[in-house]
Amino acid sequence: LFEASHAAAARRPVVVRPLAPRDVPRVEELIRGIDNFNEDEVACAIELVGLAAGPPPGADDYRVLVASAEPDGAPLGYACFGPTPMTRQTFDLYWIAATAEARGRGVGRALHDEVVRAVRAAGGRRIRVETSSLETYGATQRFYDATGYRTVGRVDNFYKDGDHLLILLYELGG
Ligand SMILES: CC(C)(COP(=O)(O)OP(=O)(O)OC[C@H]1O[C@@H](n2cnc3c(N)ncnc32)[C@H](O)[C@@H]1OP(=O)(O)O)[C@@H](O)C(=O)NCCC(=O)NCCS
Repeated sequence: LFEASHAAAARRPVVVRPLAPRDVPRVEELIRGIDNFNEDEVACAIELVGLAAGPPPGADDYRVLVASAEPDGAPLGYACFGPTPMTRQTFDLYWIAATAEARGRGVGRALHDEVVRAVRAAGGRRIRVETSSLETYGATQRFYDATGYRTVGRVDNFYKDGDHLLILLYELGG
């Protein structure tokens, strides 16, 4: 039933823009509201938004895109990514999230499309995601599968017993 309603969910146009200073508190609020992020993840995600909003080198290492319904509207989702240190053409997608109300309407897809565009413009060839095996059940796993990621690595019990590190990779190609 959920799958069907997801497929039928109304798609509204989504605007994706780079993080502006006025977005910072709104994106922080969005992050605090993501139900499956634990306390440490919330703190880390918020820290990276602060770095992205600040001066280099933070702003070079971490970039944030914000999705909203109108050009300066309230954030419906955000993505944080950046060049992977010590690599030439690899980027990390550190976080991608949509508000619970906005899910299943193309916000994640629109954000990812713009991440890919930015990575390509910067000469990147691939995007890595590191994620917990627990998080990848359900919607998150389906999102990465549908977006074209494949699992290329796994470290058992990395986060804690029974909670493995999965490494997902998206190849830009062409
Ligand atoms: C993962 C997440 C960002 C996806 O965002 P979203 O806006 O709901 O995703 P979209 O609507 O753009 O969906 C894109 C594709 O993913 C798949 N998908 C996403 N959610 C799905 C769900 N609940 N059921 C089935 N497929 C789903 C669909 O196949 C969809 O493709 P379609 O366009 O052909 O329908 C969102 O679920 C989220 O914020 N989750 C919590 C935070 C999180 O875990 N982030 C990842 C780790 S940082």
